[in-house]
Amino acid sequence: MSAQSSIVEMQNIKKYFGAVRALRGVDLTLHRGEVLGLVGDNAAGKSTLMKVLSGAYSPDEGQILIEGARAHIANPDDSRRQGIEMVYQDFALANNLDVASNVFLGREVVRWQLGPLRIMNKRAMEDLARDLVARLKIDIESVRLKVENLSGGQRQAVAIGRATAFDAKVIIMDEPTAALSVAAISKVLDLVRELKAHGCSIIIISHRLEDIHAVCDRVIVLRQGRKVADRPVIGDIHEFREQIVAYMVGAKDDFATEMDQP
Ligand SMILES: Nc1ncnc2c1ncn2[C@@H]1O[C@H](COP(=O)(O)OP(=O)(O)OP(=O)(O)O)[C@@H](O)[C@H]1O
Ligand SMILES: [Mg+2]
Repeated sequence: MSAQSSIVEMQNIKKYFGAVRALRGVDLTLHRGEVLGLVGDNAAGKSTLMKVLSGAYSPDEGQILIEGARAHIANPDDSRRQGIEMVYQDFALANNLDVASNVFLGREVVRWQLGPLRIMNKRAMEDLARDLVARLKIDIESVRLKVENLSGGQRQAVAIGRATAFDAKVIIMDEPTAALSVAAISKVLDLVRELKAHGCSIIIISHRLEDIHAVCDRVIVLRQGRKVADRPVIGDIHEFREQIVAYMVGAKDDFATEMDQP
C-alpha cells in the first residue's frame, strides 16, 4: 500500500492568490528515504507547493498525510513538529551571527528558563553545531565564524545543516544550488547524498536539471499549477533533459484531462 512506504502525501492541493491559480489540484507523494526533484518553469507553483507543506501557506483545498495519518499544518511550527524542515530560497540566515548561533536560531539550547529570562548555553550549542558540521562533512573551519564571512556554498551548507539539526524526517530545499560555483554545487549535492544516507527523505526544487539528474530518484514536473509528469530519474542526462523540457514547455503532459483544456 502506498501509504506505508510514503512519508508525505499531498492530495489535490489548490492554492489561489486572487485571480492567480498557483496550484490547481496537485498530488505529490514522497517515499521514505527518497530524493524527489520538483521542477518546472518560473511561476509553475513549485515554491508555493512546498510552502504549503512547510506551513508557510494554507491551501484553499486538499489534504496532507504524514506517514499515512492526516496532518494539520497551519503554520511552520506545526510542520516542524511533524519532522518537516524547509531551506528557503534566500537561506534566511542571520549574517551577523556565527555558525553555531545560526544552526540554533529561534530554538537555542536553554540552560535555565526563569520566566522570560533565558540563559542560552553557548558551549552546548557550539558542541552540537560542531558535531553536526562534522557529521554532514560540511567544509567550515570553525562554528564561531560569522555567517557574513562565509562563501555562498558554505552559507547554503549552514542553511541545510540548520534544517537537519533537529532530526527532521523530511527536508525541503528550494534552489539549493542556484548562484553557486561548480565546486560549491558539487559539495551541496554531496550533502544531499549524505542526508539520504542518514535516512532523510528530501525534496529539491531546482532549475538545474543536471543536479536533479545527479541526486534524485524521482522527478515531478509542474506546469501552470498542475502536475504534468511524475517519473523515475532514469537514462543519461541528455535523454533526461530532453524529456523533462518537453513537460516543462507543455509539449507532453501525463495527467491531462478534458477539464484542463483551455
Ligand atoms: N504570496 C503571494 N502572493 C501572490 N501571488 C503569489 C504569492 N506567492 C506566489 N504567487 C504566485 O503564484 C504563482 C506560483 O509562484 P511560485 O513562487 O510557486 O512559482 P515557482 O514555481 O516557485 O517559480 P520560480 O521558479 O520562479 O521560483 C506565481 O504566479 C506567483 O506570482
Ligand atoms: Mg520558487
